[in-house]
Amino acid sequence: MAIRKVARMGHPVLRQKARTLTVEEIRSPEVSRLISDMVETLHEYGGIGLAAPQIHESVRLALVEIPEGSVRYPEGAGITQPLAVFINPEIQVLDKEEQGFWEGCLSVPDLRGLVQRPKKIEVCYLDAEGKGHTLVAEGFLSTVLQHEFDHLDGVLYIDRLRDTTRLAFVEEYQRYFQD
Ligand code: NI
Repeated sequence: MAIRKVARMGHPVLRQKARTLTVEEIRSPEVSRLISDMVETLHEYGGIGLAAPQIHESVRLALVEIPEGSVRYPEGAGITQPLAVFINPEIQVLDKEEQGFWEGCLSVPDLRGLVQRPKKIEVCYLDAEGKGHTLVAEGFLSTVLQHEFDHLDGVLYIDRLRDTTRLAFVEEYQRYFQD
């Protein structure tokens, strides 16, 4: 296990479309090492999600770790709370109505931005064993997953800002915008 350096906005790896992993690759020692490194890196930097391109690995894999109590994963999603591994995720929007959350990103440090995204989605993905699952997510979890999976297509949350007056440094966000 190793803590990896997180790529910051401007690094080309964050703008590439990441490639799909095969089931054979998913079950390989290389990918399990990558997942361990991502877990360790996420814990070191702090945060609730990390996508492989953020540690310079352009593959379709993301981790989400939401503090227990704040969000519940639905049953049958193959997720051992609070940490979940999503490989080759595919999103389908179930409710186009949008919700706004203030987002942050380890690759865009010290900033927060208010982003509107669809409320409810369905995600098909493979877990760390290569097993397929379907998950319906709404509310905060829906936003978190869309943010992480955007990284796999080279998209950052700032690309989705509609109102740049709702982009702030963390300190100013806490002072002027946080409830
Ligand atoms: Ni991010």
